[in-house]
Amino acid sequence: LLLSLLSANVSATEIVAHRGFSQRAPENTVAAFNLAWEHESDACELDLYLTKDGEIAILHDADTKRTTGVAKIVKESTLAELQALDAGSWKAKGYKGEKIPTLIESLKTMPIGKKRFFLEVKCGPEVVPVLAKQLKTWRPRAGQLCIIAFDRTVAQEAKKALPWMKVYRLSSEKTKDKKPVDLTQLIADTKADGLDGLDLGLKWAWNEALVKQVKDAGLELYVWTVNKPADVKRLAALGVDGITTDDPVMVRIALKK
Ligand code: G3P
Ligand code: CA
Repeated sequence: LLLSLLSANVSATEIVAHRGFSQRAPENTVAAFNLAWEHESDACELDLYLTKDGEIAILHDADTKRTTGVAKIVKESTLAELQALDAGSWKAKGYKGEKIPTLIESLKTMPIGKKRFFLEVKCGPEVVPVLAKQLKTWRPRAGQLCIIAFDRTVAQEAKKALPWMKVYRLSSEKTKDKKPVDLTQLIADTKADGLDGLDLGLKWAWNEALVKQVKDAGLELYVWTVNKPADVKRLAALGVDGITTDDPVMVRIALKK
């Protein structure tokens, strides 16, 4: 029991439900996380921000317009203001009243032992001490949590504050100014920062050489966001550790497991 609590018992290719089962339920809500677990996803991914009053809110965008119909800037709003909004109706009438959850409300949906959460930090490193405080009591379930971040400073700070958690660096294939990202440099930075792996976008030039280069460096390798069966099969055959998807049922069928 202790071992299963300490390490997530994940299957060969880990199926990560992107923002929960976001194809069917409103992304980043308790409903979407519960639906992902019901459909036997190995993991859920969520996005997090720090609110004006120092709490953590779970949503993808820096404002609430797209998912609630009301325009509020997350970092300029209190958690209570954000949780008063309806984050479900935009997806389907039946989800009316679904809230923007807190981090802990989201984590509480996770079954004990075999599943895990990928926590994507969307804001700056100022959230890291808050994360460390809120996650203190989750340490016995360390294998069930990991942090992902595009921002190098965020990833570095997270690893320093939460050395018991895995931290993966996210990267698109191009920088913000549209230059190709140098994989060799990215791997070197990830190793220098003491991180556990990479979580790369589907648009990278996925091939055996790429996977080998990452694995030979002793890093785990994940890919987002994969919504077509042919891509699932191609990436699983290359030996990625996990696949992030809006449709975990499709991925499970494509993997035939
Ligand atoms: O899992 C990583 C992926 O979620 C990054 O992209 O925009 O969906 O947060 P985004
Ligand atoms: Ca994300």
